[in-house]
Amino acid sequence: MLDFPANSFKVMSSNNLQTRIMPFCEESVCEAADILKNGGIVALPTETVYGLAANALDENAVKSIFTAKGRPQDNPLIVHISNFEMIKPLVTEIPELARRLAEKFWAGPLTMIFGKTSVVPDITSGGLSTVAVRMPANDAARAVIEKCGFPLAAPSANLSGKPSPTSAQHVFEDMNGKIPLIIDGGECSVGVESTVVCFREDKIHILRPGGITAEMLSKFAEVEIDKAVETAPRPDERVLSPGMKYKHYSPKANVFVVNKRADLFRKFRAMHEDENAWFLSRGDYGEGFIDFGEIAEIQAQRLFGLLRSADENNIETVYVEAPDKSGMGLAVYNRLIRAAGFKVVDE
Ligand code: TXA
Ligand code: MG
Repeated sequence: MLDFPANSFKVMSSNNLQTRIMPFCEESVCEAADILKNGGIVALPTETVYGLAANALDENAVKSIFTAKGRPQDNPLIVHISNFEMIKPLVTEIPELARRLAEKFWAGPLTMIFGKTSVVPDITSGGLSTVAVRMPANDAARAVIEKCGFPLAAPSANLSGKPSPTSAQHVFEDMNGKIPLIIDGGECSVGVESTVVCFREDKIHILRPGGITAEMLSKFAEVEIDKAVETAPRPDERVLSPGMKYKHYSPKANVFVVNKRADLFRKFRAMHEDENAWFLSRGDYGEGFIDFGEIAEIQAQRLFGLLRSADENNIETVYVEAPDKSGMGLAVYNRLIRAAGFKVVDE
């Protein structure tokens, strides 16, 4: 929760740069657009998580994103557009299937991979010949892109490796002193990042699960789920989506996914109750548990905030009752096993 009135803005300074949080309004949209037009970076809300945005077509501006996040340069960024016309100069071809998915799911949490044209600098695509494009649904994000008139590259606005930010305050924790402006659009409604897909022989190949589920996509074509979604890639393995190979979403606390439901999870807690630990349960299990949500949509909204507050509370270990892997649950599971460094307790 934010500790200042929603209609004021806060000025803080460190490293000589003042990071301001402004509510979403005409004034903040104009300011953000001015900064972006001058090659700067700003944090914006989207419906998934907050993004750290720069002009996707300006090499130097995009470089500043990598510096602010401490992000490896081979991890490509998603390019955000606010209307369908904007995609045309960026990509070599728009397959018919992509067009149909755009019609159904844009604006929204779906990112599609296309062949890229030379308009998109190599730094934006992490040196790949492809580019990831998404049209966010969030009004603030769309207003800023529209005002800029160019597409925005925007990874999640966290320090690389940390849980993604789902509120302006989370962004502030990671980016204070590094960026001039955060637009506050409240809590993100989805809570985990967009679904990332590429197309392989008329099939939809899910590289990262998210708010648009495999079940929703399967109405349009056969859906494959990349093996890196549920498992750890080997260190030498070539992965289709570079983001999949990095440790991710991790708080300082040691996270474990516990593959035990309901009463077995209660017993598991009883065996570990002396530890400085949190037990995230799939529902209200009473004292000693933190309700992580019964359904995946709620778990997605709460996940990153809970991981961040475990650190604020100096919790050493977080045990999480494993989510179902169907629907949005696959996205929650995918983030969770990465936050846990793939540590799963089965027996
Ligand atoms: O919901 C979202 O997608 C958020 C908001 C801010 O829009 N953005 C986001 O960006 O999650 P980021 O940078 O944290 O994650 C981008 C993911 C990474 O896993 C990256 O490897 C993958 O998309 N990606 C980007 N371009 C790609 C490409 N050309 N081929 C394969 N994967 C790509
Ligand atoms: Mg990210």
